[in-house]
Amino acid sequence: MTDAPTAFIDHAFRRRILCAVGALMLLMLLAACSSGGQDPAEVTSLPEGNPRSGGELFIVSIDGAPPCSNCHSLESGQEEGASLAGYGALASSRVDGMSARGYSYQSIVQPAAFVVPGFSNLMYNQYGRKLSSQQIADLIAYLLTL
Ligand code: HEC
Repeated sequence: MTDAPTAFIDHAFRRRILCAVGALMLLMLLAACSSGGQDPAEVTSLPEGNPRSGGELFIVSIDGAPPCSNCHSLESGQEEGASLAGYGALASSRVDGMSARGYSYQSIVQPAAFVVPGFSNLMYNQYGRKLSSQQIADLIAYLLTL
């Protein structure tokens, strides 16, 4: 019985650690929920986009990158890849605090930052390196007409 007090202290100590960890996780969760998103700074310096060129870029491979149309359909209900049907109306409501352009930019350059619910993070992630800002602007202009 001599080690009973130690066992008690151990137990209390472990409980305190667990509480602290729990509180920390709760705080992080709250922060993640309340902060929402923000447009990437690069969006403000994008050139004016041309939706017609964007539509052409959507279906071709640029610098070895897969064409967007490899994965994205423009009809609703396709299984692989997010269908982009009706995307223009959705884009501004995907992430709190992000504009349609900002969200679209992020979706192309940093697709893992927000993964559309129900999908996996499968999108090709090198477009930021392969596309010029003009090409990205054109693609965004095109996406917002969908
Ligand atoms: C290898 C397959 C693949 C390719 C190629 C691809 N995507 Fe995606 N894309 C996805 C998947 C899967 C998602 C849904 C998961 C996610 O949000 O990352 C997605 C999500 C998106 C979204 C967000 C859609 C929404 O409803 O919020 C946009 C916008 C988008 N892609 C645009 C593009 C554009 C533009 C290109 C070409 C430059 C492209 N994608 C190329 C697979 C792909």
